[in-house]
Amino acid sequence: MNLLILSGSAFPGSHTRSVAETIESLVGQPEHEVAHIDLRELNMPIFGQGKTDDTEYLKRLVEDADAVIIGTPNYHTSFSGILKNALDHLSIDEFEMKLVALYCNSGGMRNSDPLTQLRMVMRGVHAMVIPTQVCTCNEDFEKTETGYTLKNEALRERLSVMVDGLIKQSNSERVSI
Ligand SMILES: Cc1cc2nc3c(=O)[nH]c(=O)nc-3n(C[C@H](O)[C@H](O)[C@H](O)COP(=O)(O)O)c2cc1C
Repeated sequence: MNLLILSGSAFPGSHTRSVAETIESLVGQPEHEVAHIDLRELNMPIFGQGKTDDTEYLKRLVEDADAVIIGTPNYHTSFSGILKNALDHLSIDEFEMKLVALYCNSGGMRNSDPLTQLRMVMRGVHAMVIPTQVCTCNEDFEKTETGYTLKNEALRERLSVMVDGLIKQSNSERVSI
């Protein structure tokens, strides 16, 4: 499987990025390929204000992926603007029947509201979002020199279940609706 992880925090060394790195470490390689894009590092203009090499690069990455995992911080009980802007540059052309899994991190209590909203957006681009999702909060992490590391074992296990679910689903026959 060719897996793409998109993490959508506005800040460097984020919890959301740390979860993406944990997922990378959980994916069996080399039988599966995994790439992680921290969206804040791409040059993505506000949608409607032009295109860049990175907008085209992101389209190609999503198009070529067998599955995409999308992570976001909780901003005002929703997902981040950086992520929404990146998604606005994408469309059904890249996501039609694409396998997708979601996770989010909240500063306060664990909260699935940002993912409920993201699920609606993914339905709008005809993605196939799996039911298993993971919600973390800042308390689940330990600070490191460069960012954070997920220390909650139950959540690491749940991430593993989510990734396994994606892999199993990517091996089953794809239907077109
Ligand atoms: C604009 C903004 C809005 C936020 N709103 C919420 C919120 O509604 N609930 C919450 O638990 N945390 C909220 N937070 C806190 C973030 O979820 C918290 O900083 C978290 O660590 C972000 O994850 P990150 O390190 O991956 O960016 C907000 C942060 C920002 C910057």
